[in-house]
Amino acid sequence: MTKGTTMTNAVIDCILSRTATKYYDRAAILSDDQIRELVRIGTTAPTSFHMQNWRFIAVRTREAKARLSPIAWSQPAVTDAAVTFIVCGQLADSSVIPERLAPLVEAGVMPAAMVPEWENPARDLYMDYPQRQRDEAVRTGTFGAAAMIYAARSMGLGSTPMIGFDADAVHREFGLGENEVPVMLLSIGAERPGNWAQKPRRPVADVLDFV
Ligand SMILES: Cc1cc2nc3c(=O)[nH]c(=O)nc-3n(C[C@H](O)[C@H](O)[C@H](O)COP(=O)(O)O)c2cc1C
Repeated sequence: MTKGTTMTNAVIDCILSRTATKYYDRAAILSDDQIRELVRIGTTAPTSFHMQNWRFIAVRTREAKARLSPIAWSQPAVTDAAVTFIVCGQLADSSVIPERLAPLVEAGVMPAAMVPEWENPARDLYMDYPQRQRDEAVRTGTFGAAAMIYAARSMGLGSTPMIGFDADAVHREFGLGENEVPVMLLSIGAERPGNWAQKPRRPVADVLDFV
């Protein structure tokens, strides 16, 4: 890219045009197959050592939304959007790696001898470091959510990532495991008119350092 030119294509347009949705069409639903497809796309996001240490709880019935709403600051998106995912990251645990890599080995993508070359450094990286295990859970959930946000946008759906919830209460109410962190809530659904225009960003010069 030369100075002064702006690159555009469908993917970049999708990224550039996204906003966090405030107002959802309360009547619009997503089928379980559409929800599955969003998660399938989300799970193609990268994860450390291909651990795929995530789980997605799709809160989409009236009853489940009523359980989530009071422990999510009664944010309207939870009740109004077709679905709100509880995006869970799982504490990084290297012992899952052989099982997670087995399909790659079977498919001939990775030689079997390489599996310990991933598992061993992962053990050294995470095993004695709870903060790193948790950081990785949050990174994993965030990458998955980001992929779903842009996939949703490309399908003409709005999305809202949300940290405004009581993490302990969500953990209890939706039966998260001891190794699971509710990284964020992610509402997705058709929008209704009246959403905010895009917010201006800090100048690139303020956020980019060349070294
Ligand atoms: C980690 C995270 C947590 C957020 N939590 C909330 C939330 O609890 N409620 C809400 O209405 N918006 C929430 N947002 C949306 C932000 O306010 C929004 O992304 C930001 O103002 C930028 O606007 P834009 O996404 O439309 O560009 C959150 C966004 C992120 C990334």
